[in-house]
Amino acid sequence: MPDGILDLRMAAPAIALRGVGKVYSAGRGSLVALAHVDLALRAGELAAVIGPSGSGKTTLLSIIGGILTPTSGEVWIAGQEIARLGEAERSRARLAHIGFVFQGYNLFPSLTARQNVEIALDLKGVKRRHRAAAALELLEQVALREKADTYPADLSGGQKQRVAIARALAGTPSIILADEPTAALDSVTGRRIMGLFRDLARQQRRAVVIVTHDSRLLDFADRVIAVDDGRVSEAAAPRAVELAGSEPAAAAALTAGLIRRPRSFEHSDLVGTP
Ligand SMILES: Nc1ncnc2c1ncn2[C@@H]1O[C@H](COP(=O)(O)OP(=O)(O)OP(=O)(O)O)[C@@H](O)[C@H]1O
Ligand SMILES: [Mg+2]
Repeated sequence: MPDGILDLRMAAPAIALRGVGKVYSAGRGSLVALAHVDLALRAGELAAVIGPSGSGKTTLLSIIGGILTPTSGEVWIAGQEIARLGEAERSRARLAHIGFVFQGYNLFPSLTARQNVEIALDLKGVKRRHRAAAALELLEQVALREKADTYPADLSGGQKQRVAIARALAGTPSIILADEPTAALDSVTGRRIMGLFRDLARQQRRAVVIVTHDSRLLDFADRVIAVDDGRVSEAAAPRAVELAGSEPAAAAALTAGLIRRPRSFEHSDLVGTP
């Protein structure tokens, strides 16, 4: 049985998809966005999802996150099948287990960075008196504390993206799903954020799934999941580069050429299972 296919003999995975399909109605016809996806991810794993535009990455992530329901198949999140739940129950499961970074940030324009994070903390059940400090702590994690009182319109794209990441971390979800979280970031900040995701997986035993177009970031991933025209296959993950020392030191070392960049990944590396 290939890696990544749900195997009931293993310890219960954090995320398991069995035979998941998604068909959108498109005009008079229909569009198969996902076809029979089997996938299992454990706590502590960071999976990168790659694939061409329109291949089904956001659809896959949204189904894992309980934002979309599949047309067929089962979606297991933290031991609970969520695909067949009603809207209210699915939303409860989502709040309990999932942190989601949306492809387009989805920040509230009339709220400051801190307030955007506080709203998420509120939804996750954090008491009002703890929210301000918790929000600042989360913004600190993405190095954005000094912009806490700034509105989204006055933030750069990369800063908005980091607020969206801080918001997804609210309430310490056991599953973190991020749709192109580094798309608007320069390469050093992108690696720093990927380092944060990797630490969340490794040190805090979360399951992390990240959609990325940036092949330079794949060295952070334990698993590389390729989506092509609605079909999912697993590629060998490049050996993770262990960055010595603190992240800023590592980033500086990288910039100074002290740490070798991983070789870039070719598409041919990613098709089929070795
Ligand atoms: N709500 C919808 N209704 C109909 N078709 C949709 C809908 N959402 C997505 N699609 C189609 O499903 C396919 C997969 O879309 P999806 O957004 O999952 O792709 P993606 O891999 O995330 O692409 P990108 O890299 O551009 O973000 C595309 O052909 C898209 O046009
Ligand atoms: Mg997408």
